[in-house]
Amino acid sequence: MDTRDKVIPLVQGRAPLDQLRRPIHDLRISVMDRCNFRCPYCMPRETFHEAYRFLRSSERLDFAEIHRLARVFVRAGVRKLRITGGEPLLRPGLADLIGDLTQLPDIEDIALTTNGMLLAKYATELKAAGLSRITVSLDTLDPEVFAKMSGGFGGVSDVLEGIEAARRAGLAPIKINTVVQRGVNDHTLLDLLAHFRGTGVIVRFIEYMDVGTRNHWSPALVVPSRELAARIHARWPIEPRDRGYRGEVAERHVFADGGGEIGFISSVSQPFCGDCSRARISSDGSFYTCLFATQGTDLRGPLRAGATDEELYELIRGVWSGRRDRYSELRASMRDAPELHKVEMNYIGG
Ligand SMILES: C[S@@+](CC[C@H](N)C(=O)[O-])C[C@H]1O[C@@H](n2cnc3c(N)ncnc32)[C@H](O)[C@@H]1O
Ligand code: SF4
Repeated sequence: MDTRDKVIPLVQGRAPLDQLRRPIHDLRISVMDRCNFRCPYCMPRETFHEAYRFLRSSERLDFAEIHRLARVFVRAGVRKLRITGGEPLLRPGLADLIGDLTQLPDIEDIALTTNGMLLAKYATELKAAGLSRITVSLDTLDPEVFAKMSGGFGGVSDVLEGIEAARRAGLAPIKINTVVQRGVNDHTLLDLLAHFRGTGVIVRFIEYMDVGTRNHWSPALVVPSRELAARIHARWPIEPRDRGYRGEVAERHVFADGGGEIGFISSVSQPFCGDCSRARISSDGSFYTCLFATQGTDLRGPLRAGATDEELYELIRGVWSGRRDRYSELRASMRDAPELHKVEMNYIGG
């Protein structure tokens, strides 16, 4: 057997902690930098136009490489995987990758984030392959606002069909990610909630974040979660619930009348870096320790040059052990600093 293919046993006590004593628990894997939408807050058309150079397929990690890295990350402490992008359902054969990842020891959960356009086609296949959970991004039910927020691609009915297909396939719980932008979709959010209340689908409102450098982010476009929660409370009283686990990003609330759960992801107004245990791998195999990172660590080079699992593990351990990132908490104090060249969201995934 090639030493590179040896499954390393999990050595208790060797999982690294970073400089703020945070373990590495979640791994987000971007399987595709391309997308079939052009949400202006993520991949604005003026940058991601027809001539934009996306990765070639040979530059993307193949499934065997993703599987191997995931296995080494498990040894470093990872227990949850999330497949993302770009749009992950554009990656041919994605269900095969999910099937392979379910075979990894110690993985408790595999989730997927998608814009839902292709979900009606793939939901059953994904469930059969072992996908545990799905998050579908949907910013509004208003067709005009939807077109504005998707860059003119797709439609509300396609995404709703995808959500329905996921429900029928037994992918549960289904979560909806809704990016909130003041003056763009915030007037449509109660309608969105009215649609999903009582269905078991959990809507999570995400404050518009300053990811990447190309989305013209401005604090004026952010609706703080507290303000939004007050608006919702005035219509349907809501009550806070404890976070499900340490490091969970969403603040959970329930409708007092039993209409189910909603969440708020408040990375701008109430940053939560203190418990952040998430690592990310871009589609071409760079390892990022923060969504707002300016630089990653290349894992594809060593992988393709024949590094052993032990060598890859040491590389990952070294990077994680030196990690001090807490961008969201420092954001306000950095506002006057020179522009950072933060990595784009489609490249490392949300
Ligand atoms: C980058 S997308 C990748 C997966 C898939 N294409 C999708 O849209 O679900 C992951 C998540 O990031 C969110 N996102 C993208 N840009 C954002 C921004 N500037 N602020 C907040 N959330 C953002 C999206 O709404 C989506 O829920
Ligand atoms: S948020 Fe998702 S769907 Fe929208 S452009 Fe980014 S990757 Fe594509």
